[in-house]
Amino acid sequence: MASVFLVLVTFLLSLNYSQQLQSSNSQTLLRIQQLLNFPSSLRSWKNSTDFCNTDSNSSLTVVCYEDTITQLHIIGEGKSQTLSKNFSIDSFVTTLVKLPSLKVLTLVSLGIWGPLPGKIARLSSLEIVNMSSNHLYGSIPIELSSLSNLQTLILDNNMFSGVLPIWIDLLSGLTVLSLKNNLFNGTLPNSVSNLDNLRVLSLSHNKFYGVVPDLSHLRNLQVLELDDNAFGPQFPKLGHKLVTIVLRNNMFRSGIPADVSSYYQLRRFDISSNTFIGPFQTALLSLPSIAYINISQNKLTGMLFENVSCNSELEVVDLSSNLLTGSLPKCLVSNSSDRTVSYARNCLETTNQNQQPPPFCHTEALAVGVLPERKKQKQVSKVVLTLGIVGGTLGGVAVFLLILFIVRRGKSRSKTKKNPPTRLISENAASGYTSKLLSDARYISQTKKFGALGLPNYKSFSLEEIEAATNNFDTASFIGEDSYGEMYKGQLKNGSFVVIRCIKMKKRYSTQNFMQHMELISKLRHCHLVSALGHCFECSLEDSSVSRIFLVFEYIPNGTLRSWTSDGHTGKSLNWTQRIGAAIGVAKGIQFLHTGIVPGVYSNKLKIEDVLLDHNLVAKIRSYNLPLLSNIGKVRRGNSSNGFKHSSINKSGKHEDKCDIYDFGVILLEIILGRTIKTTNDAEAFKELLQASLGADEDARRSIVDQAIRKACLEQSLKTMMEICVRCLIKEPAERPSIEDVLWNLQFAAQVQDAWRGDSQSSEGSPGSPQRTAFR
Ligand SMILES: *[C@@H]1O[C@H](CO)[C@@H](O)[C@H](O)[C@H]1NC(C)=O
Ligand SMILES: *[C@@H]1O[C@H](CO)[C@@H](O)[C@H](O)[C@H]1NC(C)=O
Ligand SMILES: *[C@@H]1O[C@H](CO)[C@@H](O)[C@H](O)[C@H]1NC(C)=O
Ligand SMILES: *[C@@H]1O[C@H](CO)[C@@H](O)[C@H](O)[C@H]1NC(C)=O
Ligand SMILES: *[C@@H]1O[C@H](CO)[C@@H](O)[C@H](O)[C@H]1NC(C)=O
Ligand SMILES: *[C@@H]1O[C@H](CO)[C@@H](O)[C@H](O)[C@H]1NC(C)=O
Ligand SMILES: *[C@@H]1O[C@H](CO)[C@@H](O)[C@H](O)[C@H]1NC(C)=O
Ligand SMILES: *[C@@H]1O[C@H](CO)[C@@H](O)[C@H](O)[C@H]1NC(C)=O
Repeated sequence: MASVFLVLVTFLLSLNYSQQLQSSNSQTLLRIQQLLNFPSSLRSWKNSTDFCNTDSNSSLTVVCYEDTITQLHIIGEGKSQTLSKNFSIDSFVTTLVKLPSLKVLTLVSLGIWGPLPGKIARLSSLEIVNMSSNHLYGSIPIELSSLSNLQTLILDNNMFSGVLPIWIDLLSGLTVLSLKNNLFNGTLPNSVSNLDNLRVLSLSHNKFYGVVPDLSHLRNLQVLELDDNAFGPQFPKLGHKLVTIVLRNNMFRSGIPADVSSYYQLRRFDISSNTFIGPFQTALLSLPSIAYINISQNKLTGMLFENVSCNSELEVVDLSSNLLTGSLPKCLVSNSSDRTVSYARNCLETTNQNQQPPPFCHTEALAVGVLPERKKQKQVSKVVLTLGIVGGTLGGVAVFLLILFIVRRGKSRSKTKKNPPTRLISENAASGYTSKLLSDARYISQTKKFGALGLPNYKSFSLEEIEAATNNFDTASFIGEDSYGEMYKGQLKNGSFVVIRCIKMKKRYSTQNFMQHMELISKLRHCHLVSALGHCFECSLEDSSVSRIFLVFEYIPNGTLRSWTSDGHTGKSLNWTQRIGAAIGVAKGIQFLHTGIVPGVYSNKLKIEDVLLDHNLVAKIRSYNLPLLSNIGKVRRGNSSNGFKHSSINKSGKHEDKCDIYDFGVILLEIILGRTIKTTNDAEAFKELLQASLGADEDARRSIVDQAIRKACLEQSLKTMMEICVRCLIKEPAERPSIEDVLWNLQFAAQVQDAWRGDSQSSEGSPGSPQRTAFR
């Protein structure tokens, strides 16, 4: 009896609950009807309507799952209408997000106007969005990046502007991206090539320009529509499964790659109104699926033959306004009216369709043909030029190796001939220049602690030692080259590995010129710097000026910090605690460079590739602004531009410490997001993403971080790291935090994470279940 009663009560309760839910849904829909100013498709909606159980038609569909609305399709009258001035898109979206289970949302031709509010991302289940043919403007809000279920995004026929956001690949499930007919501009971000699931990419009729990113790894891509933009000049790199390629009316100016004639699924191929050059591949006409080919208004050349074969399903072939010669393929001459064939304004052997005399095409083709030839010449002269530069500064590695080879052969053959005689000045680090400098008290006492580093004392090496360590500069020891010179890996007699930097002098200096520098370098020892172990001068016999300096550094075995994030593609990954630890290491290294010696070493152009990890995963900075290098290497520094513009470098040197803070911010960004950041623009875009996610909820925040750490970082710790990262990347140098401030925050983030970890381990012994312990 009691149990029956209980069941009854539960039933009534649930009924009541579902009724409530329904009525709140109804209110929301009625409010939407009102905000959209009662469009005709919603005219039948009343408060008595049972929304989940009405018939759907082409202009209105509501789909429910267990009384919650999962799909809403409303299609209005036409593009021409605009809602009145009192329409507020903000109120509209605020109302819309009260249907939190929406998966599919279609709001087409309703006259909706205004910038798309970011809060639409609160509809976190969204999978398909089609908001075409409205009057939406502004950029795509960054909050959309948290819509991890989104598969289809269609915003055609609006007035959106700005660039295609670099974070677009956070929508990793995206299969359809259609932004036709808007005002988007800029170049496409390379992150587009990470959208593995993309099937349709339609960007027609915008103001995009520049090279199309490599799309050849997008195995699912079938439709590529880029018409009416300013893309070019190279034909895009594509996979073989394309069905539709539309490049009409852009600025392409290249040949058609040969492998296009192996796109066996290709149906529609429209490259008209560009400046494509080179031969037209008639094999395209016989592709098994091809139905539409339009190559008109280009500069394509080549001779057609009558015996060329065609696919029988060809409906449209437009070859007009090119430089084709020969005779029209027989298979194209058809009596049936369901095939259109245009070939006017070529030089074909036919009296039809207004042909030019053959010499016209020949001269035109020659005019176009000059291009590749000229290119060749350019290349040749470029090589010579490069060699010229290399003679002075040693450019590419390959060329360097070549030269090394030549030099070494030359050496062994003609030791007496060309090479300037060299000898070694053996100088003793202890004598002469050190005592004075030390007594100058230029160095803060901190530097004296470095006995504790476990490094051997700084010393001066002999040339024999250097040669023995590198096996006489064997090519096998060569590990690379940066703006300052070549680097070799070597092994000292005691078995320890070292990295030897070789710096060539272009001017004449005596060893005395470098004594002060060497003294300073010997003091730049810190557990978070790759420290120098010693140096060696090679001097010219003629005038005892220095011809080369070798700087010997400790060898750090565990690769770069980047190789330990998801974008490093090495399979190795640091956990969250280790990442904070690495960041703290880098920050301490910077702090030492700034304050550990006088004067401080600033503007170090820090990059994540210059942070190495030792066998205990301790971070060490390898490339700092060595005073010696910055003096000699000034000319070369330009070569190593890493894409980061230092607009913030203050000519007066006022905020010189803040350049390093910015660079540190970029490193933090990579650590948190697990992404390679190449340019200032990338850094700026990701900073904005981080900033937006700080205002959003925890799920959104987690969705953007490196997936290797997504689950195991504590909310408060992550947030602290994100906040300090954003502050480091502030445009105005003066507003960036000090290195001490940075360190304080990093240490706080570490402590929070640590305390939580300790707690979870002691309580349950199950560090793998963060959720449970996190909410204690
Ligand atoms: C907006 O103004 C129109 C008249 O121009 C009026 O009919 C409508 O009710 C107003 N809508 C709102 C939401 O105030
Ligand atoms: C679709 O149905 C709605 C009501 O369910 C009605 O108001 C609307 O006029 C219908 N539209 C068409 C095109 O039939
Ligand atoms: C419809 O809703 C309005 C206010 O929301 C209310 O005044 C009216 O009585 C309702 N009509 C019916 C038939 O429920
Ligand atoms: C968006 O929805 C409208 C209306 O249903 C439809 O006509 C249009 O084809 C859709 N857009 C895309 C790209 O599917
Ligand atoms: C894109 O257009 C906007 C105006 O809509 C302009 O401010 C911006 O500079 C343009 N960006 C590029 C990269 O052309
Ligand atoms: C081919 O493209 C040109 C230029 O884009 C266009 O004018 C022409 O109508 C197209 N031909 C056919 C048959 O569609
Ligand atoms: C087509 O004809 C040309 C010359 O008329 C000849 O060189 C070529 O081999 C022929 N191709 C085929 C596939 O028969
Ligand atoms: C086209 O029609 C003409 C007669 O009008 C005929 O001689 C020719 O064989 C036909 N061509 C084809 C490809 O059917």
